Amino acid sequence: MEIERARYLVSPGGRAALARLPDDLPIADPNRLATELRRSFPPDEASALAEQLTLRARAAKNHGDTRGFLYTADGLEMMTHPLVAARRANRIAGYGGPAFDLTAGLGGDLFALREARVDVVGLERDPVHALLAAANTGVAVVRGDATQPPFELSGTSVVIDPARRSKSSRRFDPAAFSPPWDKALALAASARSAIIKAQPGIDASHIPAGAEIEAIQLGRSMRELSIWVGSGATPGLRRAVLLPANISLESSEPEAAPATRAAGPFLFDPESCVTLATLVLHLAQRLGAWLLDPHVAYLSADQPRFSPLAATFEVLDVLPFSVSRLKDRLRASKWRPDDIRRRAFPVEPDELRKLLGKLRGEPVTLLATTIGGQRTVFICRRLFAPA
Ligand SMILES: C[S@@+](CC[C@H](N)C(=O)[O-])C[C@H]1O[C@@H](n2cnc3c(N)ncnc32)[C@H](O)[C@@H]1O
Repeated sequence: MEIERARYLVSPGGRAALARLPDDLPIADPNRLATELRRSFPPDEASALAEQLTLRARAAKNHGDTRGFLYTADGLEMMTHPLVAARRANRIAGYGGPAFDLTAGLGGDLFALREARVDVVGLERDPVHALLAAANTGVAVVRGDATQPPFELSGTSVVIDPARRSKSSRRFDPAAFSPPWDKALALAASARSAIIKAQPGIDASHIPAGAEIEAIQLGRSMRELSIWVGSGATPGLRRAVLLPANISLESSEPEAAPATRAAGPFLFDPESCVTLATLVLHLAQRLGAWLLDPHVAYLSADQPRFSPLAATFEVLDVLPFSVSRLKDRLRASKWRPDDIRRRAFPVEPDELRKLLGKLRGEPVTLLATTIGGQRTVFICRRLFAPA
């Protein structure tokens, strides 16, 4: 976004125009929307307003965000989900003292910090984001470079949410971050306490020794790995967090023995936050369950147990993997694979679904895995906690 557009949007005229727009504009059709707005506004203003309406609709859909923020497309993509931001802001509020958000973006974290009554100031390198973040939050946002922060950080809490420059790369590449990863860690170390936001797939070698980590999941979607350092962080602690209910599991809890056993009548598939926080054995202890294979996160038990941190299944049958045998077995029992899950198994669920072809009958779940080197498929019925 050009700075002139951002200036128009934060101006009293731009704000009033956005507030006055009718609710029944054709937001789903960008061409019609632009044409309609051009009837009442000069072309530049019409396209600025059209862009905001489109981005606001996306924010509402993806984040449930109806705060009326001003967005850029990439700022919205990078913004912390409001529920994740609120949880972290409350923790920082508990630390007391001032805070800096060194990578303010559009103000997702900054807004939550202000709501949590933290005395906070933002820093942002990009002039458009700095302007919009200040307008979105009502918090002072200084334009500057976090690698040379214009603030004294000692005695403060800092939030660092580096931008990823290479959006296509799925690998964690510290050089593709801004501020660079090593600089982000150094900034965090210079504050009294800090949280650095990382992508869930970050390699453990990039996490500083002595950090506390939280694997944050919202619904079925893994959001981030929060790396907490300094005062308030518990060195070495790992926590799986499932939002919105804020259910958690910690490495300080007892864990089951890593011994493996053959599958019993029930299986559990842990949520991603549990596996990412390497807490599968801790979950096993809560569920009275055991591992089937040392390298696979599926758990088994003699009794059905229920936890929001795992899906529970009753085993209907188990077979060594062969497409034809599986197909025959499903057909014979009139079972239709509704959900197909895999762990340590080479065939993608969609591919397996295609190989099995059209089947009719009672919906079942397939858990495809490798146990002791043997490819295995469990045919299961999903169980839900009694109401
Ligand atoms: C991932 S976004 C932050 C999103 C923010 N947490 C939110 O919830 O809206 C990262 C932001 O850091 C800014 N940034 C990148 N490098 C920076 C630097 N060296 N100093 C300050 N800001 C920087 C980018 O312009 C971008 O707006």
